[in-house]
Amino acid sequence: MSAPSRTDPLQYLTAELDTLAAQGLRRSLRVLDDEQRAKSSFDGRSVVNLSSNNYLGLTTHPRLRERAIAAVHDLGVGSGSVRTIAGTMAVHLELERRLAAFKKTEAVVVFQSGFAANAGTVSAVLTRDDVIVSDELNHASIIDGARLSRATIKVFPHRDVDAARRIVRELPTGQRKLLISDGVFSMDGDLAPLPALCALAEEYACIMMVDDAHASGVFGANGRGTIDHFQVHGRVDIQVGTLSKAIGALGGYVAGSRSLVEFLHHRARPFLFSTSHPPAVTAACLAALDVLEQEPEIIERLWSNTRFFKDGLRALGFNTGASESPITPVIVGEGALAMRLSDELFEEGVFAQGIAYPTVARDKARVRTIVTATHTREDLQFALDVFARVGRRLGII
Ligand SMILES: Cc1ncc(COP(=O)(O)O)c(C=O)c1O
Repeated sequence: MSAPSRTDPLQYLTAELDTLAAQGLRRSLRVLDDEQRAKSSFDGRSVVNLSSNNYLGLTTHPRLRERAIAAVHDLGVGSGSVRTIAGTMAVHLELERRLAAFKKTEAVVVFQSGFAANAGTVSAVLTRDDVIVSDELNHASIIDGARLSRATIKVFPHRDVDAARRIVRELPTGQRKLLISDGVFSMDGDLAPLPALCALAEEYACIMMVDDAHASGVFGANGRGTIDHFQVHGRVDIQVGTLSKAIGALGGYVAGSRSLVEFLHHRARPFLFSTSHPPAVTAACLAALDVLEQEPEIIERLWSNTRFFKDGLRALGFNTGASESPITPVIVGEGALAMRLSDELFEEGVFAQGIAYPTVARDKARVRTIVTATHTREDLQFALDVFARVGRRLGII
């Protein structure tokens, strides 16, 4: 019997894609032909790569590669289970111990990704009776975790501690409150005002949580993050970090008290219901921590490249916002213009991803640049020359 003909119930998605195309916002995925490096080939074209989160070049660092290969030999390619059943390996615990020492907290729990760490933690520690006070530019994984928790979500304007205070002081004293911010904001590269946020959390007995995804490996001594950079150790109850960006591999973690971590073992859904990391990923992360501790000059190179490139973009007259990190946005306004800038940069040998609504506000579309420690001065000067040429051609500068 032949199947009855029917209209495609997902037809409306094609219509949505057509709308995006008409707005100049439909994207196809660029394909990396080789390794994630400062200069790579995407879609068959060799480009200076300003789009990765590979801040320190660790995705291809020989020490990480060797440890990962050795782990494949010694421990296989998968863990075979979720952590709470049969998927906790000694290497997982070793990484958690090392991360706790690195972050100067009692304990750490590793998740499959930074996204899982944020969403799994926020949704586990709060209930519908609680309130989340959140910076408007916090990462999507925080927003999703907040929604899953069913707590009331109150959003304060970006980095505006006074506005956050106005929200917090109106809440009943006995109500549980989470004050939460990214440490480094991923689309703007600016920093949370952590000392002031910590003081606010202390004044009103809030739980203080920071997502340091873009700060770990970048800010603070040996890349310990913004908590170390601002010296607010002991004042942030829940620190999230990622192993997918500067650390070069994959994963996320929560650093905090022993009881927080043990509670997450019992209640964080990605921990309970999704398989743990392959041992090679975990072993690579251990090697990355060795590199952070033993080769801090890589972080210095990242910062010297950051200063050079950021100064160059500003001198050309681009609007680079308020970035204080290796993430430098080039804000152009219209989404279609950002995509055109990105495409034309790519044609001339520079890969800087265009980012538009809903990832950023409608009138704040941009291309986002991220320099790494492994870019050479020639790479960065080449990129600046291309930005100058294309920016003038499109009337942006
Ligand atoms: C601020 C922030 N938090 C969390 C994440 C998620 O990290 P991961 O890529 O490890 O899932 C990202 C990544 O895009 C991020 O930018």
